[in-house]
Amino acid sequence: MKRKVSLTGIKPSGTPHIGNYFGAIRPAIELAGQYEARYFIADYHALNTIKDPKLLKELTHKLAATWLACGLDPETMLFYRQSDVPETFELTTILMAFTSKGLMNRAHAYKACVQDNIDAGNDPDAGINMGLYTYPVLMAADILLFDTNVVPVGKDQKQHVEIAADVAQSLNHVYGKELLTVPEPVISESTQVIVGLDGRKMSKSYDNVIPLFLPSKKFRKTIMKIVTNSQDVDEPKDPDTSHVFSLYKLFANEKQQAAARERYLAGGMGWGHAKQELFEIMEEQFAPMREKYEALMEDPAHIDTILKEGAEKARIIASATVKRLREAVGID
Ligand code: ADP
Ligand code: TRP
Repeated sequence: MKRKVSLTGIKPSGTPHIGNYFGAIRPAIELAGQYEARYFIADYHALNTIKDPKLLKELTHKLAATWLACGLDPETMLFYRQSDVPETFELTTILMAFTSKGLMNRAHAYKACVQDNIDAGNDPDAGINMGLYTYPVLMAADILLFDTNVVPVGKDQKQHVEIAADVAQSLNHVYGKELLTVPEPVISESTQVIVGLDGRKMSKSYDNVIPLFLPSKKFRKTIMKIVTNSQDVDEPKDPDTSHVFSLYKLFANEKQQAAARERYLAGGMGWGHAKQELFEIMEEQFAPMREKYEALMEDPAHIDTILKEGAEKARIIASATVKRLREAVGID
């Protein structure tokens, strides 16, 4: 029987962080055992915000090295760069004709930018380019091009996947057949929203991230910046309201979590100590991956080769989808 398809993409628009790891990368790699895995670097999505060519290249290499260091196996999983699969853009154009403008107006990411402008007393459309406005259509093309069944993402991307499903259904309805597979988002309960240094959602837009592969010393320094309350060492602390503990839970097993919980509640443990414990458990998990990451970053040409080879395989699937649609709509 044909295996179902899991697909996801990440934009190379910043240094990959712990939120990306738990929200997207790790769940995606876990699904690869059970699903046909198709993972990619969404560089045209990043172009909406990154206008420095050298930086975009560098962030693309960093993100690719991150995926590979975290366990993506390009032999068994499809791994490519969005821009190397031009069928994506033809499908985007086709999908435009089936996407209502109202659907774009309701997209949270776009609405948030408009609201920020209004709050700042600016024109509602200030700084908003068409790439940002039509972002969900390009994302729908990424997804629908590859017969995707499930899309592992963080909670913030749920609506975008639902838009892709809506667009697929509209198109299927018009032609009266299942031309496009209708995808669904997969969001893991425990890692819906990873908190950042300040307790808000970890995001490069908030400048509160813990990057994944900082050198050990800098990694520790960043963890030490997690915001805590002003309780003294002696005072008992509530693990359930602490950002330090909520991050610790991601790395610790049940037993370790229970023991840490007791240390918090007993008092006598300062925040510096709690952060040190967090650093140690994170370092243990990330150090081996960091080593792989650093080795990969030594040889960007090798990363490019991996991505190009992936794109060649991806285009075989992508061109079949576009051909099927061209025929269905009468442009063949
Ligand atoms: P950022 O918010 O830093 O710009 P992206 O939007 O590029 O991150 O996110 C890439 C992927 O990582 C998406 O699937 C997103 O849902 C996931 N992700 C990002 N931040 C978090 C977070 N704090 N918690 C859970 N998942 C996250
Ligand atoms: N929009 C996603 C993000 O900001 C990135 C992305 C682009 C994506 N295309 C995708 C995610 C297709 C899943 C599937 O994180």
